[in-house]
Amino acid sequence: MTILGLETSCDDTAAAVYRDGRVLSESISTQLQHRAWGGVVPEIASRAHLQNILPVTQTTLEKAGVTFEAIEYIAVTAGPGLAGALLVGLNFARGLADGLKIPLIGINHLQAHIWAAEIGQEPIAAPFISLIVSGGHTSLIRVNSVNDYCTIGQTLDDAAGEALDKVGKLQGLSYPAGAEIEKLAEGGDAGAIELPRGMAASGDCNFSFSGLKTAARLFLERNPKYLAIPLKNDFLAALQEAVLDILVSKSLAALEQEKLSTFVLGGGVSANKRLRSKFSRRRELRLIAPQPQYCTDNGAMVAHFAYKLIQQGIEPLREITAAPDLTVERSFHTVKSG
Ligand code: KG4
Ligand code: ZN
Repeated sequence: MTILGLETSCDDTAAAVYRDGRVLSESISTQLQHRAWGGVVPEIASRAHLQNILPVTQTTLEKAGVTFEAIEYIAVTAGPGLAGALLVGLNFARGLADGLKIPLIGINHLQAHIWAAEIGQEPIAAPFISLIVSGGHTSLIRVNSVNDYCTIGQTLDDAAGEALDKVGKLQGLSYPAGAEIEKLAEGGDAGAIELPRGMAASGDCNFSFSGLKTAARLFLERNPKYLAIPLKNDFLAALQEAVLDILVSKSLAALEQEKLSTFVLGGGVSANKRLRSKFSRRRELRLIAPQPQYCTDNGAMVAHFAYKLIQQGIEPLREITAAPDLTVERSFHTVKSG
């Protein structure tokens, strides 16, 4: 069974050709145009997807040695994400599926991130808790099956990656800043400054990063020497630690609340090695993390999740619309029971 997976929900135009549980080829075009703005500009993203989607798809098929006619299913991210960006991928996929007379499967981006940890690794047995942490999302999700999800907690304002990116911008780092913060933080002392852990005592599994962002900005205004090396590295280490600490403590609370021990990471921030080591040290959980290239947005996770659905006997819904605010609980398919 050959599946073409397409992803255009944010600033990556990505495609993968996937056959019977294996990624045959993948391509990704990351839009560097946004760097000048310090964040993703939706209109620029839509236009760039429009330019990139056909060449990215063609390159991916060529790398796999697969023709358009050999594709049996097209899976495309339908939400959540930027409305215009989603529409480009969805309309391209719909046109291709109609032309080839093959089924189109609308994929929930959050569900695809959750199962990305299976690609090239062992299958994951539900139930488990998943932390999806990226530039757009910070959610703790109870996963009961491929078709049954329940949000346990989420950010009430910024996503964790967004907070890193925005404070990174104050430090002159280019967008997205997360990976560079991780690198610079290695040379810093996280204990040199105390930055707030938002909602640490809220008694629930929700997050807030806007207080950290404000505290970081005020600290830099009052202590500009932390904008230059070597103190800059101390500041970034403290910033990273504040974000990671709260991700860990809320995840542990979710596992305890749901009485589960399997813990699955996903999303761009889950590439962070310090985050992984903080989790892998905890005896109360079994950490499963994606291979690094499947943390950030990619086409393989879209195709892989579609493959799981097909194996379970999915019925794709005919009406697939771009859904910018799609929650993890909603899907564009039904799965036959039994
Ligand atoms: O999943 P993703 O590609 O896109 C969204 O759906 O947002 O995640 C991108 C986010 C950015 O905020 C970026 O700064 C962050 O993931 N990120 C990292 C690392 N690599 C990427 N954050 C911390 N450590 C990293 N190594
Ligand atoms: Zn994502």
